[in-house]
Amino acid sequence: MRRFFPESFYNILTLIGAAIATVSFGLILFLMVLDLVADQQKPYMGIIAFVILPSVLILGVLLIVVGILREHRQDRAGKPHGLRLPQIDLNNPHHRAASTFFLVGAVLLLAFSAFGSFKAYEYTDSDEFCGTLCHGVMDPEYTAYQFSPHARVGCVQCHIGPGAGWFVRSKLSGAYQVYATVFNKYPRPIPTPIENLRPAQETCEQCHWPKHFFSEKLRRHTYYLSDEENTHWMLELLMKIGGGNIEAGPTSGIHWHMNIANEVTYVPTDSARQIIPWIGTRTAEGKEVIYRSTEIPLSDEKLKDYQMRRMDCIDCHNRPTHIYHPPARSVNHVMSLGWIDTGLPSVKGIAVQALEAQYSSKQAALDSIRSIIQNFYTTNHPEVAVKKKAQIEQTVTEVQKIYSRNYFPEMIVSWKKFTDNIGHLYYPGCFRCHDGKHVSDDGKVLSRDCNVCHTILAQQFEKDKLRLSLGGIDYHHPVDIGDAWKEMNCSDCHNGQ
Ligand code: HEC
Ligand code: HEC
Ligand code: HEC
Ligand code: HEC
Ligand code: HEC
Ligand code: HEC
Repeated sequence: MRRFFPESFYNILTLIGAAIATVSFGLILFLMVLDLVADQQKPYMGIIAFVILPSVLILGVLLIVVGILREHRQDRAGKPHGLRLPQIDLNNPHHRAASTFFLVGAVLLLAFSAFGSFKAYEYTDSDEFCGTLCHGVMDPEYTAYQFSPHARVGCVQCHIGPGAGWFVRSKLSGAYQVYATVFNKYPRPIPTPIENLRPAQETCEQCHWPKHFFSEKLRRHTYYLSDEENTHWMLELLMKIGGGNIEAGPTSGIHWHMNIANEVTYVPTDSARQIIPWIGTRTAEGKEVIYRSTEIPLSDEKLKDYQMRRMDCIDCHNRPTHIYHPPARSVNHVMSLGWIDTGLPSVKGIAVQALEAQYSSKQAALDSIRSIIQNFYTTNHPEVAVKKKAQIEQTVTEVQKIYSRNYFPEMIVSWKKFTDNIGHLYYPGCFRCHDGKHVSDDGKVLSRDCNVCHTILAQQFEKDKLRLSLGGIDYHHPVDIGDAWKEMNCSDCHNGQ
């Protein structure tokens, strides 16, 4: 028989190595072809195709080399070597049975490994994989996601999206992430903004057509103050969302920034993009205006040291799905639903206080929340503690649920760690630019008039009469703070610090 490879190749170790290498190489090719024809690309497939299978392949290659080296050594030492395979005689019923067994086994094994890698390949794309395999790491993101408007949008839809360039990148970083998780090398919390997040045009805009026109949207807010009566008040805001489609209606309103023709660029001086001394705009007609902060002076020289960014969806909607709610907002919400009895004295205040205390682990937090709330009533309102035992118990349960959805002490994640740029109450948000302190060269101020972004349609305090106007009413701050709310950013007081 003519031999294709050098003599030293033919030894049992090398042949086994060759078999392993061939099979894993075949599987890698199989996965790659699968990925080419699949309509949706799967980032973590890279772990199998570029990490696990290649390791097996390398093992095979190592076996080949070791086998060959051993052959050479034995050859030099004059020891018997070479391939001494058993002789198979198919006329011998024993041999026949054994060969059939071996053949069927080999075919089955191949089929199973192909099926197995296919299944593994499918699995790496599931939200379950993204959200739970690295459980501790992704727990905050996965939990918040499940309670968000995008709970049915796959992780990969936003984090990867279609397209070849990003595909390869995400594959490699996917493989790195697995390494980081296994060796506990990841930062807590995971830092944002994500530097190489795929541009919004290629993710969000696949579903939310940028030219889609949004009309105005009514938002009704219910609040309770942290006083003994849990003073109740409400506010109705008509959000002027607007849109980017000239044919569908006026292109003013909040989405003016993302109107395809308008361009807003800005220069942030911090990595979280919260401090913005410089803003440039260019309208459809090509008119350019530059706004500078009067509070944070920055020379044109210095400006060049920072990176300029064109505003897109993520500059406002940076928390479309991983929303960690501030405690006051969650408690107001649950109280307005009647799940926490608003008749319990000071319940708003004590619930927020229990949520905000520092805890080292989730279990410690859940236990402490119970004791803080129960002790508060037995100490300060003993008669209520007896009479409203069931309502207090339910309050404990609801507050614990809020905690579980929004606080992740193991990953050091909470609303304070991730700013949300929509709005301006708890975070600087819109007031990063619209703080009334950004002025253009010809003296135009970026307005923070309360009826520019939303019309305040109605406001009512518990014992007051309803104030209401379609043209917008004056805002009344719920507690007397003089004119502070007109001059300071709301978040200066409301940021929980
Ligand atoms: C609707 C789009 C969307 C979906 C769906 C989505 N994400 Fe995100 N994700 C984002 C955006 C936007 C950010 C923040 C980007 C920034 O601030 O730079 C983010 C940030 C993150 C971060 C960084 C830490 C943090 O909390 O900001 C992680 C980790 C993450 N996502 C994991 C996931 C996982 C796991 C899933 C699926 C269970 C998922 N994402 C689903 C849009 C999405
Ligand atoms: C796969 C499709 C898909 C992608 C990708 C997607 N969304 Fe959504 N988005 C939805 C759906 C579905 C809803 C729910 C609509 C509803 O509840 O009426 C929604 C709702 C929203 C809302 C309204 C939320 C609310 O409170 O009612 C906003 C804002 C939003 N998306 C922004 C984004 C941003 C920003 C991105 C990119 C990071 C994004 N979306 C990516 C499908 C998508
Ligand atoms: C990076 C800075 C920046 C941020 C952040 C920002 N804006 Fe603006 N916004 C601008 C600039 C610049 C203009 C244009 C002002 C002009 O030249 O008329 C503008 C204009 C507007 C207008 C008026 C559009 C029109 O019809 O003329 C509205 C409404 C608005 N912004 C709402 C918001 C809201 C709501 C947010 C927060 C979710 C926000 N902006 C965040 C820079 C910003
Ligand atoms: C200047 C900040 C800003 C930018 C930029 C921005 N949005 Fe919005 N968007 C808002 C605000 C504010 C709302 C109203 C939110 C609310 O009422 O809670 C909104 C509402 C929405 C809604 C919900 C509309 C509804 O009827 O419920 C969607 C969807 C949305 N935006 C998608 C996008 C997409 C996609 C982009 C990027 C092309 C984008 N937005 C860019 C500030 C912005
Ligand atoms: C640059 C645009 C802009 C300006 C100016 C503005 N707001 Fe707002 N405001 C928003 C947006 C956007 C939201 C919605 C946030 C959301 O949907 O969660 C909001 C929400 C609110 C809320 C509800 C907050 C909550 O989460 O409960 C209050 C109260 C409010 N605004 C009051 C004011 C007052 C008072 C002024 C005038 C000093 C003002 N706003 C000026 C954009 C603006
Ligand atoms: C000088 C500090 C300060 C500033 C500035 C300020 N607030 Fe307040 N705000 C308070 C205090 C104190 C309360 C009462 C909190 C309580 O009773 O729980 C409050 C309560 C509120 C509440 C009810 C909160 C809840 O948890 O139910 C809203 C809404 C609110 N303020 C809106 C605003 C807006 C909008 C601005 C900016 C235009 C603003 N505040 C600026 C101090 C401030």
